[in-house]
Parts: sequence; structure tokens; C-alpha cells
Amino acid sequence: MRVLGIETSCDETAAGVVGPGGILSDATYTQLEHVRFGGVVPEIAGRAHAERIAATVDEALGRAGLERPDAVAATAGPGLIGALLVGFSWGRAAAFAWDVPFVGVNHLEAHLLTPLLADPSLAFPFLALVVSGGHTALYRADGVGRYVTLGQTVDDAAGEACDKAARVLGLGYPGGPILDGLAAVGDPSGIRLPRPRGRGLDMSFSGLKTALRTLVARRPDLRPQDVAAAFLDAVADVLVDRVVRAAEATGVRRLAVSGGVAANRRLRSRLAGLPFPVSVPPLALCTDNGAMVAHAGRLLLLAGRPDLTDVRARPVWAVGSA
Ligand code: KG4
Ligand code: ZN
Repeated sequence: MRVLGIETSCDETAAGVVGPGGILSDATYTQLEHVRFGGVVPEIAGRAHAERIAATVDEALGRAGLERPDAVAATAGPGLIGALLVGFSWGRAAAFAWDVPFVGVNHLEAHLLTPLLADPSLAFPFLALVVSGGHTALYRADGVGRYVTLGQTVDDAAGEACDKAARVLGLGYPGGPILDGLAAVGDPSGIRLPRPRGRGLDMSFSGLKTALRTLVARRPDLRPQDVAAAFLDAVADVLVDRVVRAAEATGVRRLAVSGGVAANRRLRSRLAGLPFPVSVPPLALCTDNGAMVAHAGRLLLLAGRPDLTDVRARPVWAVGSA
């Protein structure tokens, strides 16, 4: 079964095709329309998706050598509703016209399952750390559609914290990747930032962001690259601490990391030091893409989830819930 996946939940218009052997194509258009506003403007995102969706899907199908896929999957939520509706409606209409099955995919579940696409050695059960711009959570994944939430951020998502930190440092948008690049030439030693913890396995990032703002105001002499490195080390420490505790609490000593922040080099190197196997997808599969939606849709269809064929697009949708 070769599945076309469509992703339009935020500012990437993306489509990809995944078959039994893996990724056949992946086409991503990142909307640069938002750069001058310093953040994603929902209205502009929806319009830009509408302008790009047909060409992006054509590109994905063309590169996969397909005129028509065997099924269509599209992100149904969570995300910006005006953006979601473009890809979701397009995908459902195309599936109807092609007379193939359609499945609505949870964006976070698509991130969560991506390491399985990239790493054939990964198998259930595993701990899944999903770190994106809108969500940060740690799950125990027992099977397709079977997830237990172990902990999550009680305030900002890790990616959101990175974007805000970049703004404090005057680095522009998109903040996470810029912060990452700058931190690569930075030296964090000598800069102390807190490692806030939530209760249990929960996480918190808003105190860290406030501490950064206070530090930068008090010490304008600090070099931005050193501050960036110190900030990202603090974010990585909080996440790694949660993973270690989750492994102890559950006895599951296998980790899969996904979502945009999984592209971060400081986090990746910190995770590589864990005393159990860690799967982190290649960079292009960490940030939003169509292949991850195709892959999740394919697994859900193979697992026989007819309940997902008539889901509605929704801005809020917890992983594992109906
Ligand atoms: O998963 P994603 O592409 O979209 C959402 O589902 O939110 O994640 C986007 C988030 C943004 O906050 C972005 O700044 C962050 O991931 N991000 C990074 C890096 N690349 C993307 N954060 C830190 N380092 C990176 N290299
Ligand atoms: Zn995402």
C-alpha cells in the first residue's frame, strides 16, 4: 500500500508518499511569508497552503512515479484550523475522486511514529519524546494507537521556548534553527540558567525563558552565541532528566525522539550519551513533513482503524484519544 500523506497544520505545506519499503517521495514548502511578522500568521498560513497544496501534492506523486496512491492520509489536528482545513479537505476530496481510502491523522502521533520510519531496529514498546513548536510530551508507546502520556510541559513547549529565546536575543524567526546555528559556535561555561522541573514527569520551560530575559537585561556584555548555547543546554538537560526518570519509572529502556526540536544538535548529542538505544530521525523528518503523515496513515490503515476515516479537522486533539 502506497500512501500519500498531506501536512498543513502550521507553516509547512508538505506532501509525501510512503510504501512498504519506506519513503518514495517527500516535498516540503516552508512558508516564508511569515518571516517579516516574526511568527506564524494563521490567516496567511491558510491562504499560502491553498496556493501551494496542488503543486506540492503533484510534486510528491510525480517523484514517487504515481498517478494515484492506494490511500490518502492528511493531518486532521492539532493545529491552526484554517491551515488544517486546506490539506484535510484537499486530501479527502482527492481520496474520493481517486476512490481510495482516506484517513485523518493526529499530527503528534505522526511525529511520535516517525522514528519507526527512519530506524528499522526500533520496535514497541518504547519511550517517545515529542518535542515540537506547539507540544512537548513524553509517552510510553506500546503499539500503533496505544500510548500512555507519562509527562508533558505545564506551560511553553520546548520549540516555543526556543523561538521566544531567539526573540529575546534579537535573532529573528524561525528562532529554533537560528539559535541552534549560533549555539554551535558558543561556549556556555560561566553562564548559569535554571533547570525548572514540573511535578512527576511533567516539564516546564517558561521559567527558563524568564531567567534568560532577566540575564540578558542584566548582562548585555554576554555574547549571544554563549547565551544561546547555555539556553539550549538547559532545555536539553530538562528533557534528558525526564527521559532518565521515565526509563526508571517504566523499565522501558528504549527512546524515540521526534518533532522539530529533535533537529537540535545540542539535544541530539546529549541524547546520544544516554545508556540505552535512542532513535532520532534525520533532520528533514524531525520538522513537519508529508512522509510522516503518510507513514502514520499507513500504519493506522494497516492496523484497521476505520474510526479514523471519518474524523473531522480539529485544532485540539490529544494523542491516543478518539
Ligand atoms: O514539529 P515542528 O516542525 O512543528 C510543530 O509541530 O510545531 O516544530 C517546530 C519547532 C519550532 O518551534 C522550531 O523553532 C523548532 O521546532 N526547531 C528547532 C530546531 N529546528 C526546529 N529548535 C531547536 N533547534 C533546531 N534545530
Ligand atoms: Zn510538528
